[in-house]
Amino acid sequence: MASPRGEFSSRFGFLMAAAGSAVGLGNIWGFPTNAASNGGAAFLFAYLLLAFALAYPALMAELIIGRHARANGVTALRTIATGPKSKLFGSVVGGLGIVTVSFILSFYAIVSGWMLAFLLQPIADVAGLEALSDWLTVDGILRNSIFVISFMLLTIFIISAGVKEGIEKWATRLMPSLVLILVLLIGYVFTLPGAMEGLRAYLVPDFTVFAKPGLLVSAMGQAFFSLSLGVGTMLVYGSYISKNENLPVIGSLVALLDVGIAVLAGLLILPAMYVALASGVEIFDAQGGLIAGPGLIISVLPALFDNMGAIGGFVAFAFFALMTIASLTSSISMLEVPVSFVVESQGVRRPAAAMLLGSIIAVISLVIVFNFDLLFEWVVTVTTEMSQPLLGLFFCLFTGWIWNRSAILEEIKQGSPQAASGFFWRVWPFYIRFICPAAIIIVYLQ
Ligand code: PFF
Repeated sequence: MASPRGEFSSRFGFLMAAAGSAVGLGNIWGFPTNAASNGGAAFLFAYLLLAFALAYPALMAELIIGRHARANGVTALRTIATGPKSKLFGSVVGGLGIVTVSFILSFYAIVSGWMLAFLLQPIADVAGLEALSDWLTVDGILRNSIFVISFMLLTIFIISAGVKEGIEKWATRLMPSLVLILVLLIGYVFTLPGAMEGLRAYLVPDFTVFAKPGLLVSAMGQAFFSLSLGVGTMLVYGSYISKNENLPVIGSLVALLDVGIAVLAGLLILPAMYVALASGVEIFDAQGGLIAGPGLIISVLPALFDNMGAIGGFVAFAFFALMTIASLTSSISMLEVPVSFVVESQGVRRPAAAMLLGSIIAVISLVIVFNFDLLFEWVVTVTTEMSQPLLGLFFCLFTGWIWNRSAILEEIKQGSPQAASGFFWRVWPFYIRFICPAAIIIVYLQ
């Protein structure tokens, strides 16, 4: 027998879970460096525009479908389909979402494993375990394998416990801690020499970048990845929202939290990079751009923490705790997508499904770890740049063209009786039908 479906116990619980999914490595690592290499505040401006004009409507589509169908992605899309063809389309989109999110998790867990290793390094230092401390920070197949498995076990542990006792309980603990650590770190970094230079690089706009063809593509990719769209994560979380909730309002709160934390993270990462520069660390790559790839988190910032003297260990610990929390609240939302499908369609018990699917994904991660140069970039590109926006497009088409409009309105009205005359209903249906698909296709073709 399948276990009964869970439900978030409060609005706060849902918000922390959904913001936890959205806020991840993409916000703290991806957004600030993307902004710094693409005209600073000009990128911020493009990002805000796309996040609210494109990603928010797509997020709403997933939340509404999920809450209406109260089911995993595949079943939900089949429920709202209107005939055999659209049912088949629903199964394909839902199924591709499950496959895509599993591959996203397989590379995400590798990077999250690095964060876990760097989190333990200051502890090894304090304990005087010098050899262990070195081993933790030096890239190696054994280290990466051990930490990717450890990180996946944490993810499986939380998902096994269910929606309320696992996802909601941990998200409501971890997300406030994340914000607190972030604010404290920003406060500290601002007192260091060089920080204001970094702030300038982040916030002074260079509008000439709008002429760059890649700008909108990266801003849109960033917004879709950051809001965890297209792969059914938000749909599944939406399926656990109470029918009394006002969906347009809580959807906009999730988007605001996601964007707000990305903007805050920029106030930490860029000043920290320029503080590193002032202390003698190289922060520019051979082409003169800021180091943005893995080098930023696993070499530039650790070099900065090393130069800070005694307090450096604390700062490093706080920073990698921040990264680990951000990763974990996102990875649980990814694993929930296949788990909810297997629990509901095969009647497997949740802990068994979490263990089985988590292990399969961990094996894929290990294959990537063992063939890193060959596979890592490729998996990232295929899943996040190709599959995710394409599935986002299919979600928009499903909601805008296949699902019955009055059924959508009925669903929204459950938690917001005046919805029919509100701003959201006047704008969103047109948006999701025409503007979102057109914009995604245009950006995709670029
Ligand atoms: N939103 C997460 C981040 O910004 O790091 C990444 C993510 C989570 C992507 C969940 C996809 C997903 F289903």
